[in-house]
Amino acid sequence: MTLLTLHDIGHAFFGRTILEGIDLAVGPGEIVSLLGPSGSGKSTIAHIAAGLIDQKEGRVARCYQRHAMVFQEPRLMYWATVGENIGFPLRLMGTPRRHRAQRIEAAAIRAGLLPEDLEKFPVELSGGMRQRAAIARALVNEPDFIYFDEPFSALDVALKRRMQDLVIASSAGERFGALFITHDIMEAIRISHRILVLAHDGQGIAGERRMADEPGKRSEEKSFALRQAFLDRDPLFAHIHEIDERARP
Ligand SMILES: Nc1ncnc2c1ncn2[C@@H]1O[C@H](COP(=O)(O)OP(=O)(O)OP(=O)(O)O)[C@@H](O)[C@H]1O
Ligand SMILES: [Mg+2]
Repeated sequence: MTLLTLHDIGHAFFGRTILEGIDLAVGPGEIVSLLGPSGSGKSTIAHIAAGLIDQKEGRVARCYQRHAMVFQEPRLMYWATVGENIGFPLRLMGTPRRHRAQRIEAAAIRAGLLPEDLEKFPVELSGGMRQRAAIARALVNEPDFIYFDEPFSALDVALKRRMQDLVIASSAGERFGALFITHDIMEAIRISHRILVLAHDGQGIAGERRMADEPGKRSEEKSFALRQAFLDRDPLFAHIHEIDERARP
């Protein structure tokens, strides 16, 4: 069973081809990373998959009930409290107010916020706490699929790791499928069941690597060794390294 399948997706902006022949599938409880250099079309794939934009070619099959999205920036409503932000998807779904509070608090606690944080405004939170609020908002209506578009790129290494652990634990607990976009090989290794690598200029998926064990069960040593092996010896990752080095000094 798959929750999301992209068949031969192609896209162009203003006549410039961005994506060609993109095929991918994600199953329940599976975290699939999509790795590619900046500008290779990763966000465009997520937007097409989630139905935010229409593809020019190919077909998207969504077999999930409800999806959520987490972006690089938290995208919180600055005029609303953290609690109101987290509860926004419940309001959209028409959940009665009396049922919202408990679910908001539960999602916030799972994301590592405290009940008293719910009364604050986003401006009063640190960057990491804002991203926690964005994750709580994604989890609050129990989606069976989540799109993550470089959600932790702006966070420092230690915080990034804690947030990755949160995604790993939530996905394992709730069995949501996830498409996790990143340009960070280490992040892809830590978080995913499979890593898909975008070809140069978005011309399809160049290949995939399946991890031997479950996310969260890999030691740091093993993850670092795997990263080094990918970069040193695996041709699939050669262009990521080169282009990333230039594009992101
Ligand atoms: N709305 C748009 N209109 C025109 N061009 C666009 C639009 N969105 C993206 N592009 C172009 O499509 C290409 C792919 O963009 P996309 O944002 O999907 O890349 P990305 O892999 O997510 O990059 P990054 O890692 O920097 O986020 C880029 O060349 C970008 O300039
Ligand atoms: Mg992007």
